[in-house]
Amino acid sequence: MTVKQILQIGAPELRTRAEEIDPTRITSHEVQGLIDDLVDTMHHANGAGLAANQIGVLERVVVMEVTRNPRYPYKPPIPLTVAINPVIKPLDDELVEINEGCLSVPLRGNVNRNVNIAVSYYDRNGRRHEEVKRGLTAGTWQHECDHLDGRLFVDRVVDPRSLATWEQFQLHHRDAFVERITAFVERVGS
Ligand code: NI
Repeated sequence: MTVKQILQIGAPELRTRAEEIDPTRITSHEVQGLIDDLVDTMHHANGAGLAANQIGVLERVVVMEVTRNPRYPYKPPIPLTVAINPVIKPLDDELVEINEGCLSVPLRGNVNRNVNIAVSYYDRNGRRHEEVKRGLTAGTWQHECDHLDGRLFVDRVVDPRSLATWEQFQLHHRDAFVERITAFVERVGS
């Protein structure tokens, strides 16, 4: 269990597709150690999620957790989730514009995400899951799974003028976004 350095935009690992993990390896010391490192590093950085690419490991593992997150106080809770070889399928065409940040990018910006998705993945015990995710939680899944394909949220920013540092977001854009997204979360329920 180690807090790892989080790679920053420009690092090649963030632009490389991560490889599937053979499900028989999930309970191995190596994969379990990777999962522990991801959880520790996410907690240390107050992140809502972290993908293995972000600590330089090109294997398809993401972790997510939202409790009361100081980086994203408007996000509904996500219990600690470990997803191995996750696959996402949109359930319809409904989109929501979310202002996102990333531990590997020093900016925030607006991206469109599917509101309703189906996810399938293995957990850290090697058990298979098929679930439906909605709203901001679905957005978090899409953001983390993008990392495994070498994609960053900035690639999906429709209007680059929405890009802002965290400080400038706080000063000029936070209130309007939180008001809009809180109404959305109340409607969708997650
Ligand atoms: Ni990220």
